[in-house]
Amino acid sequence: MNRASLVFLGAFLALLLSWAALPFGNARGYGGLAAHVDDTENKAYPARIAGPAARGALVYADLGCAYCHTQQVRGDADGADVARHWGERQSYAREYIREPRVLLGALRAGPDLRNVGARYNTADAAERLYKLLYNPAADNQTALMPQHAFLFEQRSLEGRQPSANALKVSSVRSGFELVPTERAESLVAYLLSLKDTYDYPEEKRLNTPPAPKKEGSHQASEPKPAAAKPAEAPKK
Ligand code: HEC
Repeated sequence: MNRASLVFLGAFLALLLSWAALPFGNARGYGGLAAHVDDTENKAYPARIAGPAARGALVYADLGCAYCHTQQVRGDADGADVARHWGERQSYAREYIREPRVLLGALRAGPDLRNVGARYNTADAAERLYKLLYNPAADNQTALMPQHAFLFEQRSLEGRQPSANALKVSSVRSGFELVPTERAESLVAYLLSLKDTYDYPEEKRLNTPPAPKKEGSHQASEPKPAAAKPAEAPKK
């Protein structure tokens, strides 16, 4: 084999190895994550997403919300997400294991929505979200979020009682009402379901930075669960 082929083969192998390390490394680190069963509450976390909220996740993906909104709260070391009240703690990998399609997002043009359901927690939360989707500029004149008025239907009130879920907005013609479509209802159910504030103990351990080194002690480089490796290596 001549030298050029050897260089090519070397470069090819180096690229192949680094490319393969991405999926295989991540599968090794995260592939085995399972739901955490809290014995005191007798409940498994994260909860399964079902019904309208599961359909809403498809609407969210379909409408491209993830082009402007992330669903990943960064820890204090990586940003000010917690200070912005986007979550009480950073997002953990385990939170996403029940999601058929993880919608981490592409750009942070708008607020992170990982815990939007915890922020919209009043009795009128659904109504506030409908109004925001219908016309974000109604409450906030400088809103950058696009209108999603196509998720609502104007219906004639002729011979009918007004619907319970009709939106109270002034822009509706008299004799008509504005009601959310099924897509809007599922989307809002999904947004309200985004509130995983449970503090998974194993993930917390993995994500807590190691305590500052003490004089003369040797710290393991990665914070691993205690059983995995002896934390203290004998000093040479
Ligand atoms: C072009 C970018 C863009 C797209 C697309 C977009 N948003 Fe937004 N969104 C924003 C911005 C920016 C804000 C902050 C308020 C503002 O300036 O409009 C916002 C605010 C929000 C809020 C309020 C968050 C809070 O913490 O109060 C929600 C909820 C929301 N968007 C949901 C959605 C959903 C659901 C979709 C998809 C149907 C979507 N957004 C699509 C940019 C976008």
